[in-house]
Amino acid sequence: MTEINILSRLKALSTQAREIFSTINTQEQLADFEIQFLSKKSEIGQISKNLKTCSPEEKREIGQALAGFRSEFVEAFAEKKEILEAAALNEKLREEKIDVTQQFPVKHGSMHPISHVQRQVEQIFTSMGFEIADGPEIESEWHNFDALNIPASHPARDMQDTFWISKKSENPDENFVLRTQTSDVQIRKMREHGAPIRLIAPGRVFRNEDVDATHDAVFYQVEGLLIDKNISLAHLKGTIETMLSQLFERETTVRLRPGYFPFVEPGFEVDFSCALCGGQGCKTCKNTGWIEFMGAGMVHPNVLKNCDIDSTEFSGFAFGFGLTRLAMMKYGIGDIRLLSSPKIEFLSQF
Ligand code: DAH
Repeated sequence: MTEINILSRLKALSTQAREIFSTINTQEQLADFEIQFLSKKSEIGQISKNLKTCSPEEKREIGQALAGFRSEFVEAFAEKKEILEAAALNEKLREEKIDVTQQFPVKHGSMHPISHVQRQVEQIFTSMGFEIADGPEIESEWHNFDALNIPASHPARDMQDTFWISKKSENPDENFVLRTQTSDVQIRKMREHGAPIRLIAPGRVFRNEDVDATHDAVFYQVEGLLIDKNISLAHLKGTIETMLSQLFERETTVRLRPGYFPFVEPGFEVDFSCALCGGQGCKTCKNTGWIEFMGAGMVHPNVLKNCDIDSTEFSGFAFGFGLTRLAMMKYGIGDIRLLSSPKIEFLSQF
């Protein structure tokens, strides 16, 4: 090609490149443009490659025309590349955007019926000045039995079918059980704080029982303890009647029958007037008007002595009732096994 032809070809290529460049609006089109006009393999690239075979005169003219082409497009190309990259990034971000304010339907759980009743009981007792106390579920033989005036040989220890963790030693401090009652917390707290003391201890207890509709090997109890000067059974009766009346939201009375528990003297079985029929007689109270509720009594002097409390100065009452049974009664639950089942239809009712 002659120099004249090359120059006019370059002019035509410039016009063509300008036209194409003005229509570019995607990264793909820009890449095609690069191949067509800016790469070594492009026609322009070939012309610059052949420049070295030209005469100095031609070199100057054609070189100038090529430089003009480059200065027009190389910079414009870089600018457009940046703009298109930014646009692509924006588009990507728009697609990936998440709405952090979007609301998803949330399924709320509900409180377990035992927790409901436990909280109500705790609230009533704290309003009467009782503290809420806690103790370990794995308990020493001494706290669970001996300290509560149940000697090793005493048949009372057989009243509660015990899960033994270890029973190797003659020393009851070194043997451990899954606690069979929450009465152990009395001992721990009296030894810790002395008298006067006023507490309830709700918690889980364990007995080696065959499970059926009314018995479970794991259930909940509430222990109560009040030690002070001049405490009588009248205080016990008043405290329990107040608690039950508030819990059932109706006037409830209790009656005491003699009962044996080694850690109290005198000891009682406590019944309350049936909250369903108000004492008239119904299916729940087996037409007696009374419901068996708990064990109680005046704390035995031996127990006080085990806790370094002077029984000539202080006395008091203790009681223990089944929280599980109370929840079943309050909500009319007929089968104890439902309380440890994961059935949503049952649990979501509370
Ligand atoms: N610990 C007894 C039980 O599990 C209940 C009980 C009876 C607790 C009499 C007491 C009490 O504090 O005085 O059967």
